Formats: sequence, structure tokens, C-alpha cells
Amino acid sequence: MCGIVAYVGPKDAAPILLEGLQRLEYRGYDSAGVAVVAAKALKIRKVKGRVADLASVVPARFKGTLGIGHTRWATHGVPSDVNAHPHPSADERIAVVHNGIIENADSLRQRLEADGVTFLSETDTEVLAHLIGRTAKETESLEEAVRRALKLVVGTYGIAVIDAERPGEVVVARNGSPIVLGIGEKEMFAASDVAALVRYTRQVVHLEDGELAVLRADGFSTFTSDARETAKEPFTVDWDTGHYDTGGYEHYLLKEISEQPDTVGRTLRGRIDDRFHIAHLGGLNMDARESRSFKRVKIIGCGSAYYSGQIGAQLIEELARIPADAEPASEFRYRSPVVEADTLYIAISQSGETYDTLAAVQELKRKGGRVLGIVNTVGSAIARECDGGVYLHAGPEVSVASTKAFTSTSAAFALLALHLGRVRDLSPADGRRICDGLRRLPEQIKEMLTQEEHIRELAMRYAKDAAGMMFVGRVRGYPVAREGAQKLKEISYVHAEAYPASELKHGPLALIGPEMPTVAIVPDDELLDKNLTTLGEIRARSGRILMVGHRTADQADDCIVVPRNETELDPILLTIPLQLFAYHAAVALGRDVDKPRNLAKSVTVE
Ligand code: AGP
Repeated sequence: MCGIVAYVGPKDAAPILLEGLQRLEYRGYDSAGVAVVAAKALKIRKVKGRVADLASVVPARFKGTLGIGHTRWATHGVPSDVNAHPHPSADERIAVVHNGIIENADSLRQRLEADGVTFLSETDTEVLAHLIGRTAKETESLEEAVRRALKLVVGTYGIAVIDAERPGEVVVARNGSPIVLGIGEKEMFAASDVAALVRYTRQVVHLEDGELAVLRADGFSTFTSDARETAKEPFTVDWDTGHYDTGGYEHYLLKEISEQPDTVGRTLRGRIDDRFHIAHLGGLNMDARESRSFKRVKIIGCGSAYYSGQIGAQLIEELARIPADAEPASEFRYRSPVVEADTLYIAISQSGETYDTLAAVQELKRKGGRVLGIVNTVGSAIARECDGGVYLHAGPEVSVASTKAFTSTSAAFALLALHLGRVRDLSPADGRRICDGLRRLPEQIKEMLTQEEHIRELAMRYAKDAAGMMFVGRVRGYPVAREGAQKLKEISYVHAEAYPASELKHGPLALIGPEMPTVAIVPDDELLDKNLTTLGEIRARSGRILMVGHRTADQADDCIVVPRNETELDPILLTIPLQLFAYHAAVALGRDVDKPRNLAKSVTVE
């Protein structure tokens, strides 16, 4: 999704902006641009294509110590040089970069055109450039010009604005799209993602929705939309540039899959209590009595985060015996949800910035709901909005497809379910069983990863030429099947469907045949026999079967055997081979593994 970088200080802005944009490439984009101010004149370069293409058209004389940069993911108008940001005002005094969507752009454009403004692009952002350009002529400060213009706008935005007449400052503002300020030594940065900042500073400040900031080389000020100054406490980011390197792996995705023994270990570290066989989750901000008071749990998230929420719901039902279910946040927020005082709401997000999830949390909070977050990115919007929660500590996830955040979220849910269970009726013996099982996970993930070559060979055989693939599982296996199908389709573009194994007979069995292989998630649990019967039914329709479970079975053509742990924790280990399977299928098909087409790492628009 779109990325923003801004700089003001003593150095040449362009190299800093280009480096920052490179760091944001992982989020997905189709064009890029930069603008700097020098000698009270604006210089802009923008291209359709990669940041490297942009760098090749930025001339050596492109000097200026104030600038903004952008990677664009098209929403209004095709990817093209002219639609790329920054967009200048009509008098070429103001330049704007923008993430988000201006919903009333059409009507504003009509009004501006009626007033004689000529538009160069098809974007909603150009409306902002012209509005700010006009107000800048009537106001004493750029900040006031931006504030006035934003009052006319309906929609979401993270913006950075520069003015050739005021070469010492950048103004940024946020409403629904993240903006982070980076505090340097006599220099200031801003970006839509800390990834663009960590090379220069680890001291950051997050803007809240409705806030605006003025950055100068010697510091910054933040304001509410009605110009009241706000006080911000900077915090230190513990991610560094090393987290954003491939570390010798061919792709970020493989690096992130391979990191999982460590990342799951970090999610669990210091949180397992051997004395009472419970989990320590200080960030929940709830005492035992409060933790006991909930009658239901509702989990929301998008995409893979939602599937990990399904795993979480099962863990909570099994270990804590509280009715729990998961729903896509993108659906939940639009159906005017009934919010109950005795329901615990849990929002899941790797990025902490997914717009639909954030909007669902805001809706819950507005109605008085108690919301916990299971979030990877410290200080992100969703984390800030929640009443408490659990950080994953999985480190930044760069590849568009989520892997380590998925397993860490599932591990965090196991901790939460253990906690909720042990303040209720989960016995100390069962608590100890789960604690021991959790502790075994990192080593078992490592063991699972040693099967990579076998899985690569299976991916070549099954996915490379398949018309599509079916993924099936029952109860604990079903969210695993959904995640397996999601991974395969998003990075290899092989059509993949996931169904509860029990539902096959009610329709999708019609699709089964030699050209539609099935990946069946068949753990050794109480549903083993039922699952094996389903495999028999698939086989009877000439369907090829790759079984992922704890044993081999005659009904399957091929098997991946996963280490055994406690039944409740099965989904975590069962997911790993599906990640490797999708990865190797995508590599074999020559896909852009880390940046699959049409997708972005964090979806900060509706
Ligand atoms: C996962 O592989 C996807 N890229 C996507 O479904 C992702 O999980 C979803 O967009 C939610 O993102 P979040 O965890 O950052 O909120």
C-alpha cells in the first residue's frame, strides 16, 4: 500500500527519501516520486514503476534539504507517471503526498474546476494539493493552510506537505492512515511506517487520528484539528535495519518462515508460569476477577489474522470453556454489531494499521466494548486504541504473506486461553500440560523446517500444474486449511479453496478429480477416523491427496508428518508445512514471492 517519507534537516533530502522509499517497497506499490525544495522552488520527479526507476531519473542537481517522497498503490486512476505523487498545486508552490482515500474528491474537483483549476491527474490527492495551494495564499502558516484545507475533506489520509515559500518545514497530518515522526539530531523525519526511519533514528512519535504536526530541523510540534497543541512522548523502537534485510535468504518469506522457532519463542518468553501453570500477560490490564467476568469472546481481524483468530476461538473454547468465535473485522464493522458488556473483544493485527480492523475497534470502543489487541507492531494505531493486549514480539514482517505473525498470534492465543482457563476451571494438570507443550513448540518448529526439501518436491508435483487445489480440515484443522489455501493463492496465484472436511459432500466434492488435488489436514485427534473416511471419499473420485498430520495413511498419495504436541496446540505445527508448500509452489511458478500482484502488506484503506 502507499508509503510516505519526509525529511527536513541539514542534509541532502533526495538520497534519504529514496532510501526510505526503498524500505517501504515491501508494502507493495506501482509508482514512486519525490519532491524537494531549493532556492524557494519546488522540484518533482515521479515515475510509474520501481524506486530504482525513480532513482535513475533523479538528477545529481536535485538538491534540497527539505523533501517528501511517496510510493503509490493506485486507487483513483491507473498507475502512471502523472498519477504518481507528489502532486503540486496549480502555482507549483505546494507539493503533497497522500495515503488513503478522499471520499468527496469528485465534488471538490468539480468545484475547483468550475473555479478555473486545471487538473493534471486522475487522483483524489491532486484535490488536496489545489485546496492547500489556495489556502496557503490566505494564511500565515503552512500548518493553518493544511488545517483549513482538511476541514473541507471527507475521507482518510496520511499526508506530508511542503511549501516552496517556507523551506524550513514539513507539515504532516493523519486521519486513518498512519504517520510516524522520527526524531534525529537536528533533523526530523516522517513516514507512514517505521521501516523507513530505523536507519536514521529509533526515537519515534505516532500521530493520532485528527492530529497534525509541523516538523523543523530543530524539532516538532503536534496539534489537534482545532489547533490545540498536544504533548507527545517519544518512544524507542527496538527494530533495526537488520530486521529489514533478507539475511542471506532468497526471499523475505523464506527468512520469515525459517525464523519461526525464534519468533514463537519470543512470543512465549517470560510468559509461562511454572508455579501456577498459568500465563503472565501483564498487558491485558485485567485482574483475575475481571478475567473471569466475561461470558463470551469475540475475535476480529482480516485475512490471515482472522484465520488465526479462528484458531484462537477454538483454543479459548477448549481451554477456558467460554463461547468464542471469530469474524472478519471488515464484515463486523459494517453490521452495526451488538456490543455486550460481558463479551471480551479481541482484535488481531500484525501491522496494527489495517483500516477495517482499526475501524471495527473504534466502533467497539464507541459502544463501550472492552477490546484487547493481539498485535505485532508496538505503538501502532490498533495497539493504541485497545484497552490492553499482547504484543507478539515477532519482529517486523516484511513479506506480504503473513507467516511468523500467524504462528506467533496462535501462540499468543494459547497463552491467553491458558490464562482465561486457569482463572476458571482448567485444572493445574491441564495447565501444566499446555505450558509444557508450548515450551516444546520452538524446537518442534525447527524439526518441521528440516522437511523443507521433501515439501519443495511435493509443491512441484502438486501445485505446479494443478488447475486448483482443495484444502480441507475439521475443527482444529479447518482454520489451518483456510490459512494453507490463503498462502497458496496469494503468492502462487494457484486457485485454492478451503472447506471443512465435513462440508465436502454438500457441494465441493463435485470439483474433485485428478486435476484438483486435495491437501487434507488430518491430526491424530478425536476426529481422525472421520477425516480418514473423507479421504476415502476423495480417493474414490480419483482425487489425489496430500495429507498433513501425525502419521502416514494408505488413503493418501503423499504425507507430511508433523511432530506431535498437545492436541489443542496442533494448528501451530500443522501450519508450517503449508507455508513451505506455498512458498515453493510460488518459486517454482516464478512468482514475485514477497510482493504478490495486487496485494499490499498492510491495507490502510477500506
Ligand atoms: C496474509 O498473508 C495477508 N497478506 C493478509 O491476509 C493479512 O493477514 C491481512 O491483511 C491482515 O493484516 P494485519 O495482520 O496487518 O492486520
